[in-house]
Amino acid sequence: MTQCDDIAVVFKNSDGVWRTQVAVGKTLLAAALKCGAPVHSLCNGIGACVQCKVKVLKNPDNLSKPESLETELIGNLYHVTQERLGCQARAFGDVIVEPLPARLPKKKRRFRTHRTS
Ligand code: FES
Repeated sequence: MTQCDDIAVVFKNSDGVWRTQVAVGKTLLAAALKCGAPVHSLCNGIGACVQCKVKVLKNPDNLSKPESLETELIGNLYHVTQERLGCQARAFGDVIVEPLPARLPKKKRRFRTHRTS
């Protein structure tokens, strides 16, 4: 790939702005890892943890369309919420996104045993 194939990905939130150039087709998670933007992951980008959510601020059409794995995890209202999974959304043009705070995993439920004595 040449540098002409690179696109600009910008992450911004109230804590700062992170900019990077990546090859066309890279995921937003890969772009975030490259520039240190606070996009989180517990599953190394396999689409299991839902920690990598971002909100698309500019050029949503420059991202790949959500596939079934992503819509199963976060629903199909991305055109309303503008939220995408960073590990699933691939950039094919310049984009600006906001990293969203990571959700803590739900605590395991504790089942009480009822004593009948
Ligand atoms: S990094 Fe785990 S779902 Fe995206």
